[in-house]
Amino acid sequence: MDSIPANRRLWNQISSAYQHEHDPQIGAAPRLWGMYSIPDVHLHALGDVTGKRVLELGCGAGQWSRALAAEGASVVGLDLSEAQLAAAARAMGAARYPLVQGAAEQLPFAADSFDLVFCDFGGLSWAPAHLAVPQAARVLRPGGRLVFNVASPWFEACYDEDGSRVTTTLQQDYFGLDTIAENDGGARSYQLTYGDWVRVLRGAGLVIDDLIEPRPEPTTPNGYNETEPHDWAHRWPAELLWVTHKP
Ligand SMILES: C[S@@+](CC[C@H](N)C(=O)[O-])C[C@H]1O[C@@H](n2cnc3c(N)ncnc32)[C@H](O)[C@@H]1O
Repeated sequence: MDSIPANRRLWNQISSAYQHEHDPQIGAAPRLWGMYSIPDVHLHALGDVTGKRVLELGCGAGQWSRALAAEGASVVGLDLSEAQLAAAARAMGAARYPLVQGAAEQLPFAADSFDLVFCDFGGLSWAPAHLAVPQAARVLRPGGRLVFNVASPWFEACYDEDGSRVTTTLQQDYFGLDTIAENDGGARSYQLTYGDWVRVLRGAGLVIDDLIEPRPEPTTPNGYNETEPHDWAHRWPAELLWVTHKP
């Protein structure tokens, strides 16, 4: 089912509250990955972007894009939601970069346009991967990289909907995680099994270079979800940070 209109409506509705709650964490410093704000300098996922053509898929308020533009990358921030793009425009720094409204499923760019396509809980969490990954591969130049961070199947399978928290009990079927309803209006996020991620990435012609499993310190807070125990993500992988390239 096409979730583009519903996801756009959802993010337009929640943008202001989301930024109010999360921007202080996401934007606290450059290059912070995921729910635990783990610095890229510890994970080495993105590398040097100076002079590179970079596309952020689902840039939100542009905390990542702003940082990479300041480092000298030629960044394009793409997002589905005009409210999120307006937040990115308001937060833009001295290094200006273009913002484009669009969907990860239907990228409005020519083939071979970018050296790096990336996102952090962006388009590859909110668009079906079997549509978005081939699009990302298409717009990359040969040798270009697709790097993205998503929730892990462990995290989703242990998520207790009624208690609104992540637990140490399997709550959902691993093989039934593929589409997650985000509201009653048809908004969806997406999850794949490990095997399906490998097949989707390889099927789009990408080479998998690494699968980083970001591991926060036991006391690092999760800025988005309650976990029981508090150090859940120190003990089990909450996120998958895929590092791939187009040969
Ligand atoms: C959790 S935010 C990610 C942005 C930023 N990294 C952050 O953590 O706030 C998810 C973003 O994906 C965008 N989005 C949702 N569906 C999308 C799609 N199909 N294509 C592109 N962006 C999408 C939303 O508008 C939202 O700005």
